[in-house]
Amino acid sequence: DVGNSTNIRWHESPVGRHERQNLLGQKGCVLWITGLSGSGKSTLACSLSRALYNQGFLSYILDGDNLRHGLNQDLSFNSEHRAENIRRTGEVAKLFVDAGLICIVSLISPYRKDRDACRELLEPDGDFIEVFMDMSLELCESRDPKGLYKLARQGKIKGFTGIDDPYEAPLNCEITIKNTANGSSTPENMADQVISYLEKEGYML
Ligand code: PPS
Repeated sequence: DVGNSTNIRWHESPVGRHERQNLLGQKGCVLWITGLSGSGKSTLACSLSRALYNQGFLSYILDGDNLRHGLNQDLSFNSEHRAENIRRTGEVAKLFVDAGLICIVSLISPYRKDRDACRELLEPDGDFIEVFMDMSLELCESRDPKGLYKLARQGKIKGFTGIDDPYEAPLNCEITIKNTANGSSTPENMADQVISYLEKEGYML
């Protein structure tokens, strides 16, 4: 199925995904990190990428803020554009997975249906691992690392996730990251939680 495209055809690569994975000693997958602004998505993505690298595994981060500087610079934050942001990122992630990499996506991705569409895109090979940053709005707002919650409360940003735009938490995600009651969870032990999952599920060969 090539969507709306006509007069084009698929070309197979002479080197297959499994050959690339064997070369790298890992199985490609997407770690799709979803959560409110300020919930620690980018922090987890970075600590995870570093920890994987230190153990000899290759990952690559697709971060929402960064993609919106280039590939997705034409997109706003209305629901249609967020859906397109997530769709494009899912397609790029699929290429990275095919390349054999552990692709770490860090996007608010607030709508369940958009995340589920990516899951469907990736799932034939069981490669979609949804990671939910389960942090309360109060915590994220108190952190407010970019001062955006403050602007949203003042009405200077409209349609801000968690304030006047929805966030739909996952119902059935593979990994949930919670802040401990005493707030002692560090980027490193959050990364460890994800890495244990990857080891258990056979992504690190
Ligand atoms: S989405 O919903 O998945 O398309 O968003 P994403 O591409 O991850 O971009 C989120 C970052 O954009 C900044 N920002 C906003 N976030 C939410 N709502 C509105 N209206 C908005 N406007 C700008 C914000 O810095 C988000 O960064 P993070 O890293 O999540 O804090």
